[in-house]
Amino acid sequence: MNIQQNHRVSSMKYDNRPIGVFDSGLGGLTAFKELRRLLPQEDIVYFGDTGRLPYGTKSRETIIRYASQDVDFLLQHQVKMIIAACGTVSANIPKDFTKFLSVPFTGVVTHTCAAACAAAKGGHIGVIATPATIRSGAYEKLIHSLSPETKVTSAPCPLFVPLVESGFIQRDNPVTRLVVEQYLSPLRCSGIDVLILGCTHYPLLADVIGDYMGESVTLIDSGRSAALYARDFLSEQGLLASHDKGPGTNHFYVSDSAEDFSKVASVFLGEAIRGEVSRVAVG
Ligand code: DGL
Repeated sequence: MNIQQNHRVSSMKYDNRPIGVFDSGLGGLTAFKELRRLLPQEDIVYFGDTGRLPYGTKSRETIIRYASQDVDFLLQHQVKMIIAACGTVSANIPKDFTKFLSVPFTGVVTHTCAAACAAAKGGHIGVIATPATIRSGAYEKLIHSLSPETKVTSAPCPLFVPLVESGFIQRDNPVTRLVVEQYLSPLRCSGIDVLILGCTHYPLLADVIGDYMGESVTLIDSGRSAALYARDFLSEQGLLASHDKGPGTNHFYVSDSAEDFSKVASVFLGEAIRGEVSRVAVG
């Protein structure tokens, strides 16, 4: 299942509660960064489950259990919407996952596939993601339902997440360049037009991936696609924060070292992390 929403049609014209975002670690920052840019007045509560990362090599049952606990954690912070900024969760949760949720919920797969199909115009789409996401077939199925003639080639890239979490994200990092070449050379040879970065960690490697694939391949960032959707959805539902509320605040929660998270997050965000980073126990 890629996306579920329980639309709460509100009579309010604004809603100052925070937006909740979660991922197994740093990957959801790709959605966070875009949300911050699009919606500067929104408060954001971010949870990175760094103590149990990676999700992408776990069984479907475990992924669903972790995702339920992550959602419960965010609900304790009175969020108005939850974004599963995690391809692995989005691709593996069942259709009824959000049946009893009191706030709208979205994953990343639906919006990413729509953006990729629009960019590919019936051409050839490559999908890279975690082993659990590729195994689910979620991206492939949705692309074919949106655009049956589109050719799809998928590849799991299990080492990308540990590279990102270790901070190996610089364009000239020789280890990352080597791993990128190893995983992506079949996709480069197959002549894809569009490459879906189907794990939200992967856009942190976009420079290295882009350099290797070349300018003719359009990269689609799954975190960014979900953030764009969230902006439109909150606006349509009258759930945006009020304009006179003042600048949005950030609160980051992680289930392992706050210091390690802050270090790599700052490199990716291009500035010192703004807001408190707290370590919590979840699940
Ligand atoms: N960033 C996540 C995803 O989009 C999870 C990566 C992982 O924990 O393996 O798939």
